[in-house]
Amino acid sequence: MKNRAINSESLKSRINENEKNQKVNINKWAFNIIPKKNINLKILELCSGIGRQSEYLSKHFKNSDFDFLDLSLDSLKIVENSSFFNPGRMNIINEDMDSYVNSTEKKYDIVFVSYGLYYSNNIKMLLKSIYQILNNEGIFIVMGPHGDNNYQIFEMVESTGLIIEDKIKYTCSKFMYDDVLNFALKEFDELNIYKVKNIIKWMNSSEFYNYWENSTFFDQNFKSKLIEKIDTFFEVNRHFINTKKIMLMIAKKK
Ligand SMILES: C[S@@+](CC[C@H](N)C(=O)[O-])C[C@H]1O[C@@H](n2cnc3c(N)ncnc32)[C@H](O)[C@@H]1O
Repeated sequence: MKNRAINSESLKSRINENEKNQKVNINKWAFNIIPKKNINLKILELCSGIGRQSEYLSKHFKNSDFDFLDLSLDSLKIVENSSFFNPGRMNIINEDMDSYVNSTEKKYDIVFVSYGLYYSNNIKMLLKSIYQILNNEGIFIVMGPHGDNNYQIFEMVESTGLIIEDKIKYTCSKFMYDDVLNFALKEFDELNIYKVKNIIKWMNSSEFYNYWENSTFFDQNFKSKLIEKIDTFFEVNRHFINTKKIMLMIAKKK
């Protein structure tokens, strides 16, 4: 699981299979909600990946200073070589998020993370530390899956006999409620929650397969069985629909 979670190429392929046929552009959706600010803010993005949200952040908070953190140096290099990257204002940090947030002396006005917090090895401690590194009036923004997110793809994959790890299912269903919201409700002074449903339509077996092969729940031993199942599915169906449930949480400290 860990390798595909960090591998830059796997991340690009998964994003590509989702973005090709998605109904809602979730980054546009989120940044239409997040309030824009033109003053200088110190911003930390955790698990920035290949910079899909980093670019939006840089345009949304034009006069700010950014730290983009990820465990994958390959992904950070993509961010660093992107046209939006301004070396005078932006910095990459190739470190584990737990060790960085738990030890940094820096303070931030915004900590942003999309689809990454659940990779923490100690989420309770990480959430406390995020709260501590936020300045007064600081904002913690989290985007991630919740509820019965991905249920169609899980059902199809498990129909082969493969049992998807509980931890993986937890991260994309209850994690936002039990860990993130639970903490934010207790500790932050203002909390806003937004939700959207995204429908991803895969038009053929290979689009389905490409996504699965690059996911954290891929298992080589079930490859031929799954190919047989999806080929049979596409003999009678024109597309496979997968539902993504996305939550955006904006929590403010006073
Ligand atoms: C699913 S991707 C999300 C990327 C991006 N935020 C997005 O939504 O497109 C998760 C990212 O978290 C990074 N990651 C995983 N574990 C991490 C850790 N312990 N510390 C820092 N980054 C980590 C991975 O390298 C990957 O880039």
